[in-house]
Amino acid sequence: MTAVREHFGSRLGFILAAAGSAVGIGNLVAFPVAATKSGGGAFLLVYALFVFFICLPVMMAELALGRSSDKDPVGAYRTISKGSKLWSIPGWFALITPFMIAVFYLVVTVWVMGYLVETLFGNLDKLASQDFFIQFINTPQIFAYLVVLMLIINAILAMGVKDGIERAAKTLMPMLFVMLLGLVFFVLTLENAALGLKYYLVPDFSKIDGTVISKAMAQAFFSLSLGMGIMITYGSYMKKRDSIPGSSRAVAITDTLVAFTAGLLILPSIFHFNPQIDPSELSDSSAGMIFLFLPKIFLALQDSIGYVGASAVAGIFFFLVLVAAITSLVSIIEVPIATLRDERGMERKKAIYVIAAVQFVLAIACAVSFGMATWLTDFVQLAGVNKSFFDLIEIIFYDTILPLNGLLVCLFVIYKWKKANFDKELQEGDSDFAGSFSQKYVNFSLGTFIPLILLLIFINTVALKFFGYSFI
Ligand code: PFF
Repeated sequence: MTAVREHFGSRLGFILAAAGSAVGIGNLVAFPVAATKSGGGAFLLVYALFVFFICLPVMMAELALGRSSDKDPVGAYRTISKGSKLWSIPGWFALITPFMIAVFYLVVTVWVMGYLVETLFGNLDKLASQDFFIQFINTPQIFAYLVVLMLIINAILAMGVKDGIERAAKTLMPMLFVMLLGLVFFVLTLENAALGLKYYLVPDFSKIDGTVISKAMAQAFFSLSLGMGIMITYGSYMKKRDSIPGSSRAVAITDTLVAFTAGLLILPSIFHFNPQIDPSELSDSSAGMIFLFLPKIFLALQDSIGYVGASAVAGIFFFLVLVAAITSLVSIIEVPIATLRDERGMERKKAIYVIAAVQFVLAIACAVSFGMATWLTDFVQLAGVNKSFFDLIEIIFYDTILPLNGLLVCLFVIYKWKKANFDKELQEGDSDFAGSFSQKYVNFSLGTFIPLILLLIFINTVALKFFGYSFI
């Protein structure tokens, strides 16, 4: 056991670290595109409702679990359930899920890093060419990028919670906000920017159907880093005097504002590139947008600001995505580190080596599953379609287990830990919480409709991904 538990130094430090986790590739690319394709302002509204009425209570539940038990997710479930075998299962899920999500997220981040370096070397034109992406992800260079990326992330983690995670967030997050705003101001001056804003912001409620609603929910849940054991772990580093409800709200607002602001960057750029574009043709996947489509958009800026200017804009954008991904990866890899320390009494440094070694091997297996190793490329068949090792990890851990983990957190907190204990933890450091609307809402919703919604999403995902059948 570690003698004294590490803590974040200040409330702001915690908020920035948690926002650093929450603000990721999902915010900068997936959100703006999903919003534009699914009803603009109408999607934004549905998304915001999900963030504040469904996801926020789950975030509070995760943070409270962590802070009350002072433990990693496995230890939190074990301590609070007093050693119940059944309730140890969600604890293990909350460990394996972040571990595996980190693996595929590492690979995508490696590609972002590669695109940043190529842009800095003046190769934006190459990035915008048709086959560059598939060639690039199959070059041995990506292994070198993986090593560099893992060195950066693990160096931050090795410095600990306050001097590593919190300090990195305090430096990188304000930088990210400023650069994002700078880019937004620039693209808003471009020709046809207003057309992009129109598609992004004007509500079209006719587009809102069951699929869009479940997409908005999944996006919000992932964006707030829920169901990944991250908030349980970060909760265990929170001080008792800090308010969980207040800090959760600050994290959710920051995350949503960044996602919203990213739309003000992406959409005007797309419409500047092609005012006739039909947004429904934009790729659904973040990877498709970042690596195949956006380089073309950045290159087109050379007509107005020259090749160097266009490369600078692209470089800043890839750098933003890289920073957002690094702070997310730091938070997700801290989960297994905390578990090895709390459950096995391992030193932080040793835990880092053990986890990095396993993740390195698995990340390589993911990275070569795009053609370099054929058996990993056609790894399994799901619902009649060949899936790579990379796809499989994404489908199992991101699509399927994430909502299940959320569901289990709600049930555990309300029915095993019990409302009264949970409520007491939320009141610690927040004298205004008792008797508030927020208190009544959180307690009621977590025991009733929130788990129900997460259950429906889980069932639908299993039916869709594994059997090719959708209810909605
Ligand atoms: N909130 C993050 C995002 O939107 O990208 C979710 C996340 C993903 C956190 C991967 C951490 C991580 F490693």
